[in-house]
Amino acid sequence: MKMSVIGCGYLGAVHAACMAELGHEVVGIDVDQSKIDALAAGQAPFFEPGLPELLRSATATGRLSFSTDPAAAKGSQVHFVAVGTPQKKGENAADLTYVDAAVDGLIPFLSEGDLVVGKSTVPVGTAARLAAKVKAGAPGADLAWNPEFLREGFAVKDTISPDRLVYGLPGGEGHAHAKALLDEVYAIALGNDTPLVVTDYATAELVKVSANAFLATKISFINAMAEIAEVTGADVTQLADAIGFDSRIGRKFLNAGVGFGGGCLPKDIRAFTARAEELGRGESVAFLKEVDAINLRRRQRVVDLVVESLGGSVFQKKVAVLGLSFKPDSDDVRDSPALDVAVQLNGLGADVIATDPESIRNAQRLHPQLSFTENTADALAGAEAVVILTEWKEFRELDPAWAFGLVENAIVIDGRNCLDMAAWREAGWTYQGLGRP
Ligand code: UGA
Repeated sequence: MKMSVIGCGYLGAVHAACMAELGHEVVGIDVDQSKIDALAAGQAPFFEPGLPELLRSATATGRLSFSTDPAAAKGSQVHFVAVGTPQKKGENAADLTYVDAAVDGLIPFLSEGDLVVGKSTVPVGTAARLAAKVKAGAPGADLAWNPEFLREGFAVKDTISPDRLVYGLPGGEGHAHAKALLDEVYAIALGNDTPLVVTDYATAELVKVSANAFLATKISFINAMAEIAEVTGADVTQLADAIGFDSRIGRKFLNAGVGFGGGCLPKDIRAFTARAEELGRGESVAFLKEVDAINLRRRQRVVDLVVESLGGSVFQKKVAVLGLSFKPDSDDVRDSPALDVAVQLNGLGADVIATDPESIRNAQRLHPQLSFTENTADALAGAEAVVILTEWKEFRELDPAWAFGLVENAIVIDGRNCLDMAAWREAGWTYQGLGRP
């Protein structure tokens, strides 16, 4: 099937490459020339395991191309809208400028029977509004909402083999046609018995935001337990293991630490709160404000622990920060708890030296005032405190005896509870986790 993908960021670039891999003929369109040049040359503009290989193999087949010209969408039957919906500056609501611009830009190139498929995360009600716009500008075309659940770091796998598909379809005549087109897009996944939920626009939009709200709530729940553990001497990691054995609860997303960040969970819970308030149902999701507050408190807690461990002041003390991305296997530093903590420590006068396997360049662009090194040993050399903020494999597997030989003070704050507490203490370290004795 011929398809276009508007927006070639984390979501769109992966979607375009995966659709081509599955046999479709795909054109990825983005306004950013440098991004398009990189993608066309088979290079991923961001770190995502498996994506460079996929881009190279898909472009070599001739089924995947990229363009900055919106007219390149002409001739495709299905047009995915995969642009960003960031948080508005100074407000909780989502900024829909890019979504509206993508749909407006597509309309002149739509033909009879085409389907515009929204993938971006949007406030409920957006799809109905955009569908009216499509109908007004291109009466023969329709719109569907097909939310995306991929995780950074696993984006290729999650797109090729999703754990579920959700179609938010128009009512009336367009319904069967839209479903048939989406079934063709996802023929391989459907053939592999991927669960499919066929529904209306509002439900499809809400599935996405409520899934992310649930995940954020689960993380903040365990982080709230960490706060209680901290004043009672309990160990939140054992608590998580024990409650996680209850299959109704489950152990996943119960890792207490410095909390959630990234381009999705934080802004999605805020946008959901803003939208619910607009709808007169602010009280229904008022708890998400608490979820957000708990999350942000954990960043402060790590900063406080570093200050305490250094006797009340970090001024001119060398602090090694291990990890800058919002999670491992990603170079994304959007709303990253790790980067936030590094910046706060720097603001308190600490001599922060930060390292990360993939995200130094992105962090440096946003916060050039920090010092960076690509070498973990250099970060540790002479450090008066060490803070682990992203659980990259190479940090989880650090040898505590080796690290002991490099630092000035053997103090480690494990902001992700990812180190072997006993082994580090045995090697002579003063170990402090979050919510752990
Ligand atoms: C999230 C959702 O998990 C995806 O399903 C969704 O498609 C995506 O947002 C999106 O809306 O596009 P992602 O942002 O890639 O995916 O990251 P997650 O794996 O959800 O992690 C989010 C944050 O939570 C990270 O900072 C991570 O370190 C933190 N986290 C996760 C915890 O602090 N504890 C946990 O137990 C799990």
